[in-house]
Amino acid sequence: MTAEHFSDPASVAQYGENARRMVPGLTLVHELADALLSEAVPEQSRVLVVGAGGGLELAHLAEHHAGWTFDGVDPSAEMLRLAVSTLGPHADRVALHEGYVDDAPEGPFDAAVCLLTLHFLDAEERGRTLREIRRRLHPGAPLVTFHHSVPAGDVRTTWLQRWARFTAAPGTDDERIASTVATMATRLPILSPEEDEALLRDAGFRDVGVFYGALTFRGWVGTA
Ligand SMILES: C[S@@+](CC[C@H](N)C(=O)[O-])C[C@H]1O[C@@H](n2cnc3c(N)ncnc32)[C@H](O)[C@@H]1O
Repeated sequence: MTAEHFSDPASVAQYGENARRMVPGLTLVHELADALLSEAVPEQSRVLVVGAGGGLELAHLAEHHAGWTFDGVDPSAEMLRLAVSTLGPHADRVALHEGYVDDAPEGPFDAAVCLLTLHFLDAEERGRTLREIRRRLHPGAPLVTFHHSVPAGDVRTTWLQRWARFTAAPGTDDERIASTVATMATRLPILSPEEDEALLRDAGFRDVGVFYGALTFRGWVGTA
């Protein structure tokens, strides 16, 4: 999906199914994010979710932690509507805000997650978003991020091709794979793992480390 899909009702309707197909191990990422947050925060906690549209991680976390309340921000009204329906009975513990991190309450929050979102932001906006997240966290609170992050140089195309082939329907031809890779490379400001990690540290996060990696995806945890 590229950014414009999040305002297209037909694309949004298929979001959950597509996300699970396009992201290797997405359910495991939710479980790992849950584990990383749980090791650090009490059962009565306030969690910030940036890029909360669709509600997949919100639903997972809300289902497993009856004492957690959530604030979720996302600029797409369509994706927020989908989040409400994904959350079902858990929606009453989630305040959803249409907008960007600046539109989130000041907190302070006990933890934050930002999944499948930062690869849509250029380096400057990504850094600013991370700083604004950190500013809203208690000192020592964890942040979990997960998004496309691909080494720079010639090998970048190789990794994008591997991801495109792995997630394509059986029988997809080389031309289609090449077109998917070209779309990814031109539309998404994907950074390298080194750049992503530097942005986290520059935003003030400590003890930054990778908790998951699969093809073009990487996930990090750090503390405010
Ligand atoms: C691929 S979806 C991920 C949704 C959800 N986090 C998940 O993992 O299923 C990316 C979301 O990021 C939102 N988004 C785009 N730019 C954003 C920004 N600057 N701040 C917060 N959310 C943003 C989009 O509207 C979209 O809902």
